[in-house]
Amino acid sequence: MSIRIEKAESLKQKPESKKIPFGQVFTDHMFVMDYEEGQGWYDPRIVPYAPITLDPAAMIFHYGQTVFEGLKAYRTKDGGTLLFRPDKNMQRLNKSNRRMSIPEIDEEEVLGYIKQLVEIEKDWVPEFEGTSLYIRPFIISTEPNLAVAPSKTYKLMVILSPVGPYFAGGMKPVRIKVEDEFTRAVKGGTGAAKTAGNYSAAYRAQANAKQEGHADVLWLDGVEKRYIEEVGSMNIFFKIDGKVVTPALSGSILEGVTRMSVLELLKDWDIPVEERKISVAELYQYYEEGKLEEAFGAGTAAVISPVGRLDWLGNTMTINDEEVGPLAKRLYDEITGIQLGEREDTKGWSV
Ligand code: COI
Repeated sequence: MSIRIEKAESLKQKPESKKIPFGQVFTDHMFVMDYEEGQGWYDPRIVPYAPITLDPAAMIFHYGQTVFEGLKAYRTKDGGTLLFRPDKNMQRLNKSNRRMSIPEIDEEEVLGYIKQLVEIEKDWVPEFEGTSLYIRPFIISTEPNLAVAPSKTYKLMVILSPVGPYFAGGMKPVRIKVEDEFTRAVKGGTGAAKTAGNYSAAYRAQANAKQEGHADVLWLDGVEKRYIEEVGSMNIFFKIDGKVVTPALSGSILEGVTRMSVLELLKDWDIPVEERKISVAELYQYYEEGKLEEAFGAGTAAVISPVGRLDWLGNTMTINDEEVGPLAKRLYDEITGIQLGEREDTKGWSV
């Protein structure tokens, strides 16, 4: 489809230091495309970034039929711009669409529009260490109708935000609370889809954890509250006695692009990996035996975030003296090196 482009008349000031809070600054333009039943997706356009008007009865406000994605554009030393495995984000967007009864998109076409938007906004890709341009595609249901049924109209939008590290301390190990009261997701639910409700349902637990000095919570399975799932903003990995263990995708865990990249790198490096069920009690036992060597999260926003301490029902696991572990550091350096075009990209991840 041919795309319409309307340029902004006045441009905003860009951040001038690497201290950019996550997700609070937005660029001059955004991408918008509409959907109507019978017609399909239509009118792709890049327009000045601005508020939008919606009917108060728009279904998004009532039943939360919506999906989103998160990927990043990186500034290379020679002034170029790279995206990291964006095809994976497009595939996952459609996977979330199917779960949320939202019409699928043409993955290649939408990726082409994202590339055009990033090209127009390329001066917004920050060049300071640890920064990037976060790309947030999302789809909302817009039909004014209070019936509990899928909307007949939608809007797909892409907004861009220059960002620094997701956790304010940067690569500093974070403290995480193992959540023992609330549940994020259950098998058969929407936990594997990137949909708004999974995130807002976590606020209550996050707020409690933050009061106790934790950066976030680690979710357990929703049925037995035994097995480790994910952090919500990132997938979780443990290095136990030389092996890396991460929860297997169970239907209630988000399939992270960084998670998948970490697994591929570990295989290349001949580091043994197990994708399996792991209970928090089992993890604690390894901790007591002195075998829990490292813990870290992996996500687009979080990159590789070491976990320095886990608190579970009054038990504290202090991991690697709350220092950045060597494996987390190696993965961080390799992944960001490929993202920035500074390390050899043998798998063609950067485009
Ligand atoms: C991401 O890593 O892109 C996420 O979506 C996590 C969070 C910012 C919601």
